[in-house]
Amino acid sequence: MTALVEATEMVFRRPGGYALRIPSFSISAGEAVAVLGASGSGKSTLLDLVGGVVRPTSGSLSLFEQSTLDLSYRALDRLRGENVGVIFQEHNLLPFATVYQNVALGVQFSRVRRERVIAPSLSEEITRLLRAMDLDANSLMHRPAHTLSVGQRQRVAAARALLGQPPLIIADEPTSALDEGNQSRFMTLLQEARRSSGAALLFVTHDARLIDGFDQIISLDDPAPTEREDP
Ligand SMILES: Nc1ncnc2c1ncn2[C@@H]1O[C@H](COP(=O)(O)OP(=O)(O)OP(=O)(O)O)[C@@H](O)[C@H]1O
Ligand SMILES: [Mg+2]
Repeated sequence: MTALVEATEMVFRRPGGYALRIPSFSISAGEAVAVLGASGSGKSTLLDLVGGVVRPTSGSLSLFEQSTLDLSYRALDRLRGENVGVIFQEHNLLPFATVYQNVALGVQFSRVRRERVIAPSLSEEITRLLRAMDLDANSLMHRPAHTLSVGQRQRVAAARALLGQPPLIIADEPTSALDEGNQSRFMTLLQEARRSSGAALLFVTHDARLIDGFDQIISLDDPAPTEREDP
């Protein structure tokens, strides 16, 4: 089976003088991949590369069978909109938009993704995904996002990432603001929901306790991936 993501000897240089070397890896359909590393080791930068927000300076990266070298940033935006659900560390939701509106944003920027909504209607699919993330859809759906707890907001963000069946979910430390009980609850719900939709997961954390049940670990600490350029 062809890989969703294939990264070979990627290096990303910032004008500031850091070169981040990423070990070669690939992500197959349905696979759960954890990215581990200390603060500053390049985890978020790796997600930017896989999300097509930045391109590698050297090495190769193919996303959904297309080489990022051949694609404009506009084409990368489209590729991401169609294929990638994103969950951030925090501030995932528009605070004054309702839960429903926030989840619906998941398909706002891609016709392909809108057409992949399988339930009889968008609102039924949003209800199904909120319930899959253990949220009471009836009572929460029309509430502004800022009236939810942090744990509830992160589960709404997961529902949005899953809407429209993207083949890949990327998540950047989505549990770091949650207490331990809510962290493991979030992990279990996210893993179950993405498995049943068939999505692969690229999950960033600095907390090795969260990576139970992952198929592959990318470690950015060893060997040291960041190095100073010679002046
Ligand atoms: N916008 C930027 N401009 C210049 N350097 C940056 C920028 N963003 C990150 N860096 C540098 O790139 C390196 C990798 O940063 P990155 O944010 O990917 O780390 P991280 O592993 O996600 O860290 P954390 O766990 O703290 O989120 C760091 O040395 C950081 O200082
Ligand atoms: Mg980070």
